[in-house]
Amino acid sequence: MRWFPRAVSSFRRGGDEVLPSPNIWYYQKAYEVENRAQDVDGEIWRVLAGCRDWSGEDVLDIGCGDGFHLPRFAATARSVVGIEPHEPLVRDARNRVGELSNVEVRQGRAQRLPLPDAVFDVVHARTAYFFGPGCEPGLREAERVLRPGGTLMIVDLDVTSEPYGRWMRLDLPRYDPPGVEKFFARQGFDCRKVPTRWLFEDAAAMEAVLKIEFSAPVAAKAVAEVRRLNKVSSAAGEKRVTLPVGYRVHTRTKPTGLVVPGHSVSSADASAGAASSASPRMP
Ligand SMILES: C[S@@+](CC[C@H](N)C(=O)[O-])C[C@H]1O[C@@H](n2cnc3c(N)ncnc32)[C@H](O)[C@@H]1O
Repeated sequence: MRWFPRAVSSFRRGGDEVLPSPNIWYYQKAYEVENRAQDVDGEIWRVLAGCRDWSGEDVLDIGCGDGFHLPRFAATARSVVGIEPHEPLVRDARNRVGELSNVEVRQGRAQRLPLPDAVFDVVHARTAYFFGPGCEPGLREAERVLRPGGTLMIVDLDVTSEPYGRWMRLDLPRYDPPGVEKFFARQGFDCRKVPTRWLFEDAAAMEAVLKIEFSAPVAAKAVAEVRRLNKVSSAAGEKRVTLPVGYRVHTRTKPTGLVVPGHSVSSADASAGAASSASPRMP
């Protein structure tokens, strides 16, 4: 992944950075093709909906990019807010959801959400900002804006999966998949690994996408492998092309508070006092 190492190293310095995302910032057309190709069988959506039904609820999408996932949430949610730091994408996300009266897009970043406390039932982020150690400020912000009982859902790529994760590891030799999984476990998340399938209209679309995700040598290797996997000869370049890609879905639900015999403690009280440490799910 061309963008990932630079993003993660700048991120580790901590603070308020916007993580460079060249794939969607500079190759937006190819990224749209990628988003349309991803998870064609709806496995990620099935896992998310199995964790929580957001019908009639208030949903926040952090790092929403140009808003690809906002309409899907908006179809059943009461309200949806997309947060995105990169101004041109904020504009494009607003254009995408222009007709949807229950969606709003705001410029902002995960570490400092321009939103009040406890106003969302679901906070979602997909391949954005929450990549492991260093994302603690964003985790705190997500927790702050969730209502008690609300759910944080983080979707990212499974760097241990075959073959996509192997290509990622070639570009990210120092990335530590078990360390990242331990980080999310320590923060109180459940993790589900989700095998999916990307489906492209043709080999050219697949190549355009892999070229924005990997360094040139890794992209060349990946393209050749996918062509082999799909038995694409240059003569049969028009046929649809599929690619297995693994994801992780991390979920954590904000405690609603504790009920002690004869005494009830609200979540707000609990977060200010010793009671919060009694939650088994919180860091
Ligand atoms: C790979 S894109 C994913 C976009 C979108 N979630 C999707 O699935 O189409 C990552 C996005 O995270 C955004 N981003 C970068 N730094 C961020 C931060 N500190 N807080 C929130 N979003 C951030 C980028 O601008 C970019 O739009």
